[in-house]
Amino acid sequence: AAALFCVLPLIGCSGVQSALDPAGGDASRIYWLTMTMTVGGILIFLSVTSLLLYAIFAPPERRAWLGSRRTIIYGGLAFPIITLSALLPYGLIVMRDSDVPKAGALPIEVIGEQYWWRVRYPADGDRVAFSTANEIIVPVGRPIAVSVTAADVIHSFWIPNFGGKIDMIPGRINRLNFTAERPGIYRGVCAEFCGDQHARMAFDVIALEPAAFETWRTEQAKPAQDPEVPLLARGRELFRAGGCGSCHAVRGTEANGQFGPDLTHVGSRRTIGAGQFPNNIGTLAGWIANTQHIKPGVRMPSYGSLTGEDLRALAGYLESLR
Ligand code: CUA
Repeated sequence: AAALFCVLPLIGCSGVQSALDPAGGDASRIYWLTMTMTVGGILIFLSVTSLLLYAIFAPPERRAWLGSRRTIIYGGLAFPIITLSALLPYGLIVMRDSDVPKAGALPIEVIGEQYWWRVRYPADGDRVAFSTANEIIVPVGRPIAVSVTAADVIHSFWIPNFGGKIDMIPGRINRLNFTAERPGIYRGVCAEFCGDQHARMAFDVIALEPAAFETWRTEQAKPAQDPEVPLLARGRELFRAGGCGSCHAVRGTEANGQFGPDLTHVGSRRTIGAGQFPNNIGTLAGWIANTQHIKPGVRMPSYGSLTGEDLRALAGYLESLR
């Protein structure tokens, strides 16, 4: 029963945000280091506890060897020195080369901001550069070279299924490399306390088959389409007249603000609010009207004075940007 109780917490250890369910990069090396340390630590703890009980309860003549010089030298000095000396190179090997980009790697730049993620795909071969937010799409099998920095305070970039954390520091570029080994949706988080909404600063990492990734990249590089449906055209006009374009860019329109997330293809993203809600007209409308209630402290004000119909038009327009 005790063993079962100890194993129960491990049930929650697989899934979209778990260092114990590696999907590429350094994650599996970190996983095995964790397992080695945990199992080794348990074995050492059990041995020491057994010796302690033996020392307390065994008859004096049978436990005399415990105090011998030989036991102290081998058990108290040699064993810890050898064990710790072996763990040091193991740990160093696990961390080795994780910041050196591999040949042919896909470059991606991620900038941590309070409280969201600016994601840039720089020009790559004949592919043009574009920006997105709160979502990193990667092809399976191709090395990814992520360079991270921050715009305001220190954040930390962590995708548990792909490797360790890396600090995002204003004015400095840090690098992290990984290769997604299987398609899927994974979750990344900010791992450094960065303000009121630190806990609500997440992002999706979506690993696609290479062909699907190329399709996605081609679509993202295109400018936004102007809506034809009257309601959505009204939403576009509200977006323009409301000054949304002074903070947000929608390529192909007059909106070219650089302060907030690029919304050119916001409708194609899985979630909004930095991984907080599924992306649909309802959550978009709720977000626009209540940002300061949902995530107090974000830079975007609540637009609570919009009528229901205006909100529907505006959210519908954003949702149509695919
Ligand atoms: Cu950004 Cu915590």
